[in-house]
Amino acid sequence: MSEWVLDLKGVRKTYRGGVEALRGIDLQVPRGSVFGLLGPNGAGKSTLVKILTTIIRPTAGEGQFLGERVGHKPTLRKVGYLPEHARFPEYLTAREVVKMTAGLCGMKPALTKIRSEELLNRVGLADWQHKKVGGFSKGMKQRVGLAQALVNNPEVVFLDEPTDGVDPAGRRDIRLLLEELRAEGKTVFVNSHLLGELEMVCDRVAILSKGEIKLEGPLTDLMGQKVEYRASCGKLTSELQSSLEKKGGRWEGSQLVIPVTKAEEAMPYLDQLREAGVVVESFTRNSMSLEELFMETVGTDTPGASPRPPQTNRQAPPLPPTS
Ligand SMILES: Nc1ncnc2c1ncn2[C@@H]1O[C@H](COP(=O)(O)OP(=O)(O)OP(=O)(O)O)[C@@H](O)[C@H]1O
Ligand SMILES: [Mg+2]
Repeated sequence: MSEWVLDLKGVRKTYRGGVEALRGIDLQVPRGSVFGLLGPNGAGKSTLVKILTTIIRPTAGEGQFLGERVGHKPTLRKVGYLPEHARFPEYLTAREVVKMTAGLCGMKPALTKIRSEELLNRVGLADWQHKKVGGFSKGMKQRVGLAQALVNNPEVVFLDEPTDGVDPAGRRDIRLLLEELRAEGKTVFVNSHLLGELEMVCDRVAILSKGEIKLEGPLTDLMGQKVEYRASCGKLTSELQSSLEKKGGRWEGSQLVIPVTKAEEAMPYLDQLREAGVVVESFTRNSMSLEELFMETVGTDTPGASPRPPQTNRQAPPLPPTS
């Protein structure tokens, strides 16, 4: 069994009318991971998911998905899907929606009953399973969508904005569910604009923009690329401030930002502060958040975004000298 569930080379999609939604995607996704597909509106995320779920065909390129060529329909038996803005017949109960998907997957009725009960319990709808989805809130409908996406015990699940409209406790439940799926060896593709949530759960991410992958890899590696240390200081002289700036430090309020990746490299700064009798109230390591990484990668590609001003080191207002 290959370690990759997905292996794409040069995948392109040009829609009728000439929109180049994907411009040559190379992507490998390991089995048993939670993979975040990120990108601004119109980046091509849904187009990629639609190609993998055989809804549309790529214009060019090749790839393997679960050991078969991309587009091989029988492979979909091993796939679960929660589309963006999923809608279900309002006159069906939650249980009937899940049973309907089970039926479409060709599942035996006896197993269907057990699976739908178990899954509705798992997504927190045990008490609501006999109620019609027409009366459900947006977040409850998302939970029904999640349950139906898992009914065939898939190897790979695509979740397009799974936490859309879900309250904070429900989002945490979904995050825990994704972790359980990963522990079961399943691969989860999750597409969300809630980067803080993805940061908590994804093993790897790909940032897509204008049909191209701009950045891809293990989240810890990507976020760890830009590490800095921060020291919160008491009062210090303007001479000491400028001497630390000459070393490479910069000020954000009363915090000295030390642009180094290892704690030992920050020690000369702390030594200088201590020698001058400055109280160091805290010393912390900061890595980039996923949101910062995203904005740095595609900030100006976001529809409607204004170009970012050039990065400047924010200077702290001069502190009153102590001597
Ligand atoms: N059926 C279609 N025909 C023509 N153009 C399309 C079609 N579907 C999508 N597009 C265009 O392809 C590009 C990529 O669209 P896609 O829906 O894949 O983006 P997305 O990353 O999923 O965006 P969002 O975050 O808004 O869901 C966009 O420019 C979109 O307008
Ligand atoms: Mg989309």
